[in-house]
Amino acid sequence: MSTASLPASLIDEYAERFHRSRLLYERAGELFPNGVTHDARYLEPFPPYVEEARGSRKWTVEGHELVDWWSGHGALMFGHSDPDVVAAVQHQIERGTHPGACHRLELEWGELVQRLVPSVERLRFTSSGTEATMMALRLARMFTGKPKVLKFYGHFHGWNDFLIQGADPPFERNVPGLLDEVRQDTVLVPPNDIDAVVRALRTDQAIGCVILEPTGGHYGLVPTDETFLSDLRAVTAEAGVLLIFDEVITGFRVHPGGAQGRFGIRPDLSTFAKILAGGLPGGCVGGREDVLALLAFANRAGQKMPHPGTFNANPLSASAGITTLRKVADGQAAEQANRVARQLRIRLNELFARRSVRWVAYGRFSDFYIYPAASDVPEPRDYRWPPGARWHELATAVPAPLRYAFRLGMLLAGVDVPGLRGMSNAAHTEEDVERTVAAVDATLDRLHQAGML
Ligand SMILES: Cc1ncc(COP(=O)(O)O)c(C=O)c1O
Repeated sequence: MSTASLPASLIDEYAERFHRSRLLYERAGELFPNGVTHDARYLEPFPPYVEEARGSRKWTVEGHELVDWWSGHGALMFGHSDPDVVAAVQHQIERGTHPGACHRLELEWGELVQRLVPSVERLRFTSSGTEATMMALRLARMFTGKPKVLKFYGHFHGWNDFLIQGADPPFERNVPGLLDEVRQDTVLVPPNDIDAVVRALRTDQAIGCVILEPTGGHYGLVPTDETFLSDLRAVTAEAGVLLIFDEVITGFRVHPGGAQGRFGIRPDLSTFAKILAGGLPGGCVGGREDVLALLAFANRAGQKMPHPGTFNANPLSASAGITTLRKVADGQAAEQANRVARQLRIRLNELFARRSVRWVAYGRFSDFYIYPAASDVPEPRDYRWPPGARWHELATAVPAPLRYAFRLGMLLAGVDVPGLRGMSNAAHTEEDVERTVAAVDATLDRLHQAGML
């Protein structure tokens, strides 16, 4: 993809308004492949550079104020620099950032996770979500004695070797750099297809666990069917296969008890990160005591899974995590984030209906996705799934040029979105919603003028 396929007028205006970001990006090109430190932050012709962030807003190096729908890649439940989190981290930083020892905060942090998520009988902290999914798989392999994992197309579990295959389209592509043996141990099936799961578990006795993002791949780009989770729980229990909920995004976000709390399903293992650590790095695996026991010295199986990790349960992350988990416990933050996203989805569909555009905003929790290939103009209401669209179409609907052009248009109108989608948090307000709808309206004008609509 090159800027040649983006409208020149859009690029020129963006380059002028975000001139300081462009200079920084030139420096970045000498440092990082593509100039970025996370694939999702890549943008043609260059990404904006952010200097400061507070609440639902962030400010670029040029001083442009942006309504932010990244929510820290999902790590923020109370917006940027939540004063309570700032105070807790400031308090802790003067008392040591790494005691190289057990500390009281890790207990309080772990107890909060246990209290909020009843399936977490025991847990271990890691440094990231990717490490957590890596640990969950290794525990499952040891516990069941079976090497393979079953996962779903379009479900993302970090850049873990065993789980990156099939995370993004084109789904059948071999992700480079993986060992063939590793690739063979990942079994992929379509989302929401319980028959495909049953078939795979029947025909392949080497599958020891099933992992999924419980509300759907990429948080909900392809939403999980209402009945699928309970069917999956029943099918995995019957087959003696461990069920792993990857709640790295959904944990403490859709409900204080995560998706499992919201849907009343008890997985064998769960992985958490993001909100768990209150916007700082950190993750954990939690679940059945008999499975987590494999991390213990002299466990029953006499086979300990090694688990070091310099920053496991780091006290700074613990202080931010404790503060955040205490605040999510009453459920109000999840409700507010869900409410504001729903309001935005409805207002966007009103806009698309008014403009007779065949785009549909959909989602279920603190998320919104825009499907730009709807068969018809939407009704001005909320949608959980665009009518008539198949899962594969939802997962592949937004080509890179449209994604880049949309984001540039939105940035010029004072809003930052990670594509035709976004994630809300409890700091978002009605005013943010209205500003965003106006920005989408202005962006549609630009796309129309450029012949991209
Ligand atoms: C569902 C899910 N699992 C795992 C991960 C990986 O977490 P991390 O980025 O902390 O490694 C992510 C990251 O976005 C995620 O969304």
